[in-house]
Amino acid sequence: MTLREIWENHTGRYTVKRALYPDIYDKYLAIFVGKPVTLIEFGVLRGGSLQIWRKFLGNTARIIGVDSNPQCRAFSDDADIVIGNQQDESLLANLPDPDIVIDDCGHSPLDQMATFRHMWPRLKNNGVYAVEDLDNHAHFVQNAFMILRNNRFPFHLHRSILIAEKITEDDHKIRAGS
Ligand SMILES: C[S@@+](CC[C@H](N)C(=O)[O-])C[C@H]1O[C@@H](n2cnc3c(N)ncnc32)[C@H](O)[C@@H]1O
Repeated sequence: MTLREIWENHTGRYTVKRALYPDIYDKYLAIFVGKPVTLIEFGVLRGGSLQIWRKFLGNTARIIGVDSNPQCRAFSDDADIVIGNQQDESLLANLPDPDIVIDDCGHSPLDQMATFRHMWPRLKNNGVYAVEDLDNHAHFVQNAFMILRNNRFPFHLHRSILIAEKITEDDHKIRAGS
């Protein structure tokens, strides 16, 4: 099943994302289905997206959700849950090196950059790093490239993909689960 099909038929926990994301993730994440990959999603909310990642990637994947809300511990049946701030360096240092990062968390440039600065260099070969809802798109991309340059990390497109979508007017959301 495609991620969009899973999303549209989801009856588990609640999740909300911009409506274009399932198709984007189908395109970039299909290669990981059934593989022993590590996906870290920053931003758990009510756990629905973690259930969807599990259905999509299968049982071989390690799925980790990070959220500052301690109530998210309740959603540990489909994923490992880490409670804390996405800007906290010691929290980030204790996470495993990921194949996939989904940043759907605080959404402020400071939150996004703190996580990116720490996790991007640790992304595995052929990994995918996605930052959702980049409303301050130019700010993030400028700073991301500065981090890459200052740290002398070459921006290998064959190695890792930064998905930076620009959304100005289309704010259509997809909601699933309850
Ligand atoms: C948009 S929701 C996540 C939605 C979820 N990924 C989904 O698709 O259903 C954002 C979550 O990020 C958490 N959050 C906000 N700022 C944070 C921060 N700085 N560190 C960790 N978690 C944060 C909130 O508690 C909230 O649960």
